[in-house]
Amino acid sequence: MGLVTGACFAEFGNNVTCVDKDEKKIGKLNEGHLPIYEPGLDSLVSKNVREGRLHFTTKLKEAVEKALVVFVAVGTPPSSDGSADLSQISQVAQEIAKAMNDYKVIVTKSTVPVGAAAFIKNIIEENKESSCNFSVAANPEFLREGAAISDFMRPDRVVIGCKDEESAAILKDLYRPLYLIETPFVITSPESAEMIKYASNAYLATKVSFINEIANLCDLLGADVHDVAKGMGMDERIGSKFLHPGPGFGGSCFPKDAKALVALGRSVGYEVKIVEAALDVNEMQKSSIIERVRMLLPSLAGKTIAILGLSFKPETDDMRESPAIAIIEQLKLNEVIIRAYDPVAMEVAKSLITDISYCEDEYEAARGSDALLIVTEWNQFRSLDLKRVKKEMRMANIVDLRNVYEPDAVKSYGFNYICIGRN
Ligand code: UGA
Repeated sequence: MGLVTGACFAEFGNNVTCVDKDEKKIGKLNEGHLPIYEPGLDSLVSKNVREGRLHFTTKLKEAVEKALVVFVAVGTPPSSDGSADLSQISQVAQEIAKAMNDYKVIVTKSTVPVGAAAFIKNIIEENKESSCNFSVAANPEFLREGAAISDFMRPDRVVIGCKDEESAAILKDLYRPLYLIETPFVITSPESAEMIKYASNAYLATKVSFINEIANLCDLLGADVHDVAKGMGMDERIGSKFLHPGPGFGGSCFPKDAKALVALGRSVGYEVKIVEAALDVNEMQKSSIIERVRMLLPSLAGKTIAILGLSFKPETDDMRESPAIAIIEQLKLNEVIIRAYDPVAMEVAKSLITDISYCEDEYEAARGSDALLIVTEWNQFRSLDLKRVKKEMRMANIVDLRNVYEPDAVKSYGFNYICIGRN
């Protein structure tokens, strides 16, 4: 998120320095290598480096000294009780304080709990060594992995939370190119901006859990969740997005942010029941996948299963909280032999999931398997050569956890086919 934000602001014509204390990461970036897979980021970074607007360094003090606006994009990982761990925020705020040489706007891009702007303000006040003024603002991001650059360049809205006119004007100016395309702006308090971010992610996660429950009910009652989602989504009050059932939501944001919102509620004596339920349903959804597999393969021990897709969603190599991890762990516990393939996440996956075979492509993964599970909806899995897949497999079983195929079409090739909410 930091790299995308930096590259996009540079693309808007600003002079941007991205700072990280990880020397290896900065070294790689300076050699032109990206630490993550994100479509379009490579060319955007290299273009802006070439044109002299984008720089990488480990020297925070020098970068802060020459900046007017400092975006904080450090991690806010979950603590053991689910609340956001603010230690990186606290550390970076102390370092920024020591580098203050002039008026600056310090802005949180990281997802931070309500009250974080005030927390940062106190740290800077206590640690700054000069008398210069500063503002602290909250400017949450709504970028989706895999579509982060277009989300930055064409957002649904920009949320700016600040307490003074000066910082609001500076941030609005920074986003001026988006004014030109009439992007709506929400200017509010830092507390409300921080809450908008948590509420948005928790709401979307709840929507996914909701449709997953409806899909499970559809399977039990003989309805088709695709038609149900279509019929619901046409109501503008509901909207058609995020009504796609699957193996449960994953990624670095929904699980973490939903848990953090629940913890935030708990910290003020409030139980956020809907979000807690969304998290519970998500765990249930992930762990129920094995039952779907058992519908086709009642006895799992010694069977070979092909897994297509490992990342938590397509167009990313991010494996954080990917449903594939939980599904593979369960299959391994049931003595299943796993043959996996993912177009970009295999290198990352290898450090997280061991004792499985990583294959060259989807057909090699299918070879000799008793069932094939589509776990992530990469485009290349949407039009598999099903005749070839069937030839490669030992038994013709497909479990489509992303509903990418029409059940009747797959069955016409002689497959047994199970999906989610259309059975
Ligand atoms: C999410 C939000 O969508 C972004 O707006 C936000 O900026 C980001 O978190 C963040 O906080 O940084 P992201 O985690 O990249 O973005 O992925 P999503 O596209 O939102 O998907 C999250 C999970 O929900 C994935 O596992 C996906 O497979 C699942 N999902 C999504 C479904 O199962 N069904 C759907 O209909 C939609």
